[in-house]
Amino acid sequence: MNVLVVGSGGREHALVWALQRASIVDRVHAAPGNAGIARSAECHPVDANDPVAVSALVRELGVDLVVPAADRQLVNGVADAVRALAVPAFGPGTDGARLEGSKAWMKHVAQRAGIPTARHATFSVDDEEAALAFLASMSGLYVVKTDGLAEGKGVFVSEDLDDARDTVRAYLSGSAFGDAGRTLVIEEGLTGPELSLLAICNGDPDGARPLAPAQDFKRIGDSDTGLNTGGMGAYSPVPIAAGRTDELMAQFVTPTLRHLATLGIDYRGVLYAGLMFTPVGPKLIEYNVRFGDPEVQVVLPRLRTDAGEMIAAAASGEALPDLVFGDDACVTVVMATEGYPVSPYRTGDEIVGIDRADAMEAVTVFHAGTAASPGGGFLTAGGRVLDVTATGATIAVARERAYAAVASISWPGAAYRRDIASDPS
Ligand code: AMP
Ligand code: GLY
Repeated sequence: MNVLVVGSGGREHALVWALQRASIVDRVHAAPGNAGIARSAECHPVDANDPVAVSALVRELGVDLVVPAADRQLVNGVADAVRALAVPAFGPGTDGARLEGSKAWMKHVAQRAGIPTARHATFSVDDEEAALAFLASMSGLYVVKTDGLAEGKGVFVSEDLDDARDTVRAYLSGSAFGDAGRTLVIEEGLTGPELSLLAICNGDPDGARPLAPAQDFKRIGDSDTGLNTGGMGAYSPVPIAAGRTDELMAQFVTPTLRHLATLGIDYRGVLYAGLMFTPVGPKLIEYNVRFGDPEVQVVLPRLRTDAGEMIAAAASGEALPDLVFGDDACVTVVMATEGYPVSPYRTGDEIVGIDRADAMEAVTVFHAGTAASPGGGFLTAGGRVLDVTATGATIAVARERAYAAVASISWPGAAYRRDIASDPS
């Protein structure tokens, strides 16, 4: 079977890596991929977010399975366009992808499916006064989110009411995130450890299977300070979720999939529940409709089931194999460029030490944002640059290996968190 992975980040590199180890997969292509992916897979320069361009490539390559890996692709209809060619796609159509494409709709679905989530309200451009009044009624932790996609950066969380008011004005006026913020969601601030629960879905609401849960580190700074990012590191397994996966699937994922089915939505691919373990129990923070980045980088190395069989069965609407995970742990540390997550980032620096790190015991370096350098090495080419990933018998061993590998990689202004998986909850 020949597979096309669509996208260009560390998540896509990890998917290519896992699919190349799958028994049923002969060849893996990527579109557009990145310089790290290009070392092992054929990369094709297309606009991953354009369903017409992706389906033209699918026809040209004659691949048997397509994995659209990022939110924007799915919201734009890449999975629908691939399925229109009678080729299985691992991802929801635009109907299911709306769960991530509109936070307001996601909240509506959560309410209809009876899922615990933060108290909230939705406001549009003409409701600024009402939005500011609702904001003031929140009790001390203010959360403002763009309704639409904002590259994982449209969520504002702060204890400062004045900053929150400024954020509401900036979102509604379009000055912060364009149209994505002209409708926004204000919600109650929750506290507690977070968990990324990713389920593989095959269209049957009762046939979904959980991946091993992971924990992501969203803020740029140590001890969860500073701006929200796409994710600065992750680990799996997560002690707070031990033995609770089935219960969480029954509480969040299954009722959501059942509700989507009543709307006629055949949901295939990943349903990713971002949960928070609040003092009054777990609550849904958000739904994503694709693998988490960098969560999947720590989940796939622990998966003992054939990743190709899992993905192909889900995309084709067949019964999923049992998903079995090793007893080992996995940690990934994201290395980013100076200035991330505030673009434009500094790019074009020569990276030193990737091959040395990659050769270290139990270490794999996934490329998130690199370009080939004329000298044969790699240049920084994005906000998040590398996901330095290691496995080990325990989280502590995996963490030590990952940080030893990070220490052997350098470029001017390289930034990373020092506290990934330092205190697993
Ligand atoms: P989201 O993109 O909705 O997952 O939000 C990104 C991050 O913002 C989450 O992982 C949380 O750390 C934080 N966040 C989102 N919603 C809330 C909330 N209601 N209360 C506290 N933190 C939140
Ligand atoms: N790591 C969070 C995300 O993929 O949205």
